[in-house]
Formats: sequence, structure tokens, C-alpha cells
Amino acid sequence: MAALAAGSTTSATESLSGQPLPFRPSELKQYGFKTEQIPKLPVDHPKVEELIAAEEPVVITGTHLVDSALKWELNYLRDNMGQAPFNVYVAKSPKFMYFDEKKARLCKDFRPPSRRVEMGMAEFMDRLQNMSADSERLYLQQTLSEGVGEQIVSDFIGFNWAWVMDQQKKNGWGPLTSNLLLIGMEGNITPSHYDEQQNFFAQVKGYKRCILHHPSQFGCLYPYPVSHPCDRQSQVDFDNPDYERFPGFREAYGKEAIVGPGDVLYIPMYWWHQIESVPKGGITTSVNFWFKSGPTPREITYPLKAQQKVAIMRNIEKMLGEALGDPKEVGVLLQTMVSGRYNDPKHLLTSS
Ligand code: FUM
Ligand code: FE
Repeated sequence: MAALAAGSTTSATESLSGQPLPFRPSELKQYGFKTEQIPKLPVDHPKVEELIAAEEPVVITGTHLVDSALKWELNYLRDNMGQAPFNVYVAKSPKFMYFDEKKARLCKDFRPPSRRVEMGMAEFMDRLQNMSADSERLYLQQTLSEGVGEQIVSDFIGFNWAWVMDQQKKNGWGPLTSNLLLIGMEGNITPSHYDEQQNFFAQVKGYKRCILHHPSQFGCLYPYPVSHPCDRQSQVDFDNPDYERFPGFREAYGKEAIVGPGDVLYIPMYWWHQIESVPKGGITTSVNFWFKSGPTPREITYPLKAQQKVAIMRNIEKMLGEALGDPKEVGVLLQTMVSGRYNDPKHLLTSS
């Protein structure tokens, strides 16, 4: 497995273990913002716990979290995943932007960026193995739950639950909600978005480039309104940013890492993340471990964290949408409320 230096001058694509990564640095896309490396540390390094407690991303090696899945070659999965149909997203574009199917049904002008197809494992594998240049791209995204075969259940039981549940306890998180299995083609991209859960993102096969932005960069990344099917997703296309509509994107700066088999990336709740299966790296397989946040602390400390402000903004958007009976009215109301009152720092009419 390739080791990447944490916080050093080593670039994201150099291997310190002597094993070359399966792609060249020039094959990674260049974006219009700077990034620094996410620290990559062994599990027993004291900084690992500090970073998780501080809700800062870290790539952790040596957790053995998904060792029992490192043998999940495609043929093994074909033989052992079971008969249940699995969720496979199908798209022309390599960008698989998540959307909420319920909200999409209410939004008549919305054109889904991909479609979800239920497919047996054998069909998925056949389609993967018989791709041509003009085939649609595939991304399997399936919660590991009932319906998977016995051998996969046994591998799942063999995950390092002791480590992951110890992290949950130490950090006062709520329950584990789900494990999502992702099997994607090289070059697939999950565009930048944030999740409302803590995530240990375990890489099983292949390499993924993970680009993160701190929750304080809400104003740089312009998420869709909460009522939109693409709620929590950035409207900014990293490949072709529209700086006129999204001028704050010029101020964006990120953190990034490449994760390979056995690595676990901690993606803190509300952190933006764009995940790219690297080009020429073959099929990628990952498993997400999602946890609810802990209970709200009895005593609120100020200043609030950026994460708390995002939660407040989400609640206000939802409340206004419901109170007004039409989410389209939210913007006009907020504008009226703020204009000439809260948006001119020289004349702020507040008591503090
Ligand atoms: O494509 C991905 O691996 C996305 C993962 C995530 O958003 O958590
Ligand atoms: Fe995510």
C-alpha cells in the first residue's frame, strides 16, 4: 500500500513505500484553489485521537477496520454478494451528484444527473467488464444490510468493530446508522457536498482522491437550497466554476488526500468532500461507516462553531419554507429582512 506523508512537502501522488501509485501526478485534475495535505498517521499516533476529537480530517493507517474485505475482488463479490438487487447509479457523465428522490418528485423542472437502477451483482459485473467508450458509467452504492450473502455477512462481522465503536464512545457520537458499500469505475466523481453525519470512510480497493473543505467555507461553495433535490451539494462545478454567480469560490482552499486499500479517512460531519476514483486506477471499492452526532450539549459555548452555524441556517431555511408555504419565497423574504439593515457593517443597528 502506498504511504503518503502527512503535513510534509511530499505531494499527494508520491509513494513513500517504494510502490508507485497507478497514475501520474499530471493525470490528476488541477482546480482553481489551493489545498494542503490531510495528515496521514498510524492508528496509535496520539494526534489521531486529537484530530478526531477536534473534528479535523485525518487519514488513519493500521486500523484493520476492513481487513476482512480487502479480498473483495469483483469475482468474489459476484459469487458472494447474494441475489438481492443492488442500487446502481447510471450516468453519461463521470459526475454522480447525489439527489433526494423524494424532493425530485416534487420538483417538476429537475433533471436528475443520474438514474438509479436496481441490478443483480452478475449484471453489474457483466456491464463493468463489457464497457465501451460510449457506455454509460456505473456506480454501485448499496447499504450493507439484509439480502447480502452469508460470506459477505461473515466478512462484515469480521470488521474491526472494537476500534470503530471505541471511537464512537470516546467522541460521544450517536449510533452507527449505516454502512454504504461503493463500487465505482475509475474516473467516477462524487461532487463536493457535506453530510449530516460523522463518517469513517474505509478504502478497500483502488485509490480515491478526497478533497475536503472546512464547514466555514459555506459561503465559498454555495450549496443548493435545502428544499432542492440536490440539498447539501455544492452548485459550483470545480472543473468550470462560474465566478460571476459564485464569486466566493475564489476564496476557497481545501485539504486533500489519496486513500488506498486499508486506509480510513475520517470525514467530520458538515465538512465538504469531493471524492474522485483516480483515473487509470481501476475499479474502486469503499465502505462508509456513518454515525449520528452526539446529543446537543446542555451549555452552548460561544463563539459557535461553523458546523453549528450550518445547522442553524438549515433550520431557518426549512422553517421559513414551511411558514411561507413555498420555498421559492424564502430568498425574497431573507433579502427584505437583511437589505439595508444587516448587510452594511458600518451601520449595523445591533446592540453589541
Ligand atoms: O464516491 C464516494 O466515495 C463518496 C463518498 C461519500 O460521499 O461519503
Ligand atoms: Fe458524502
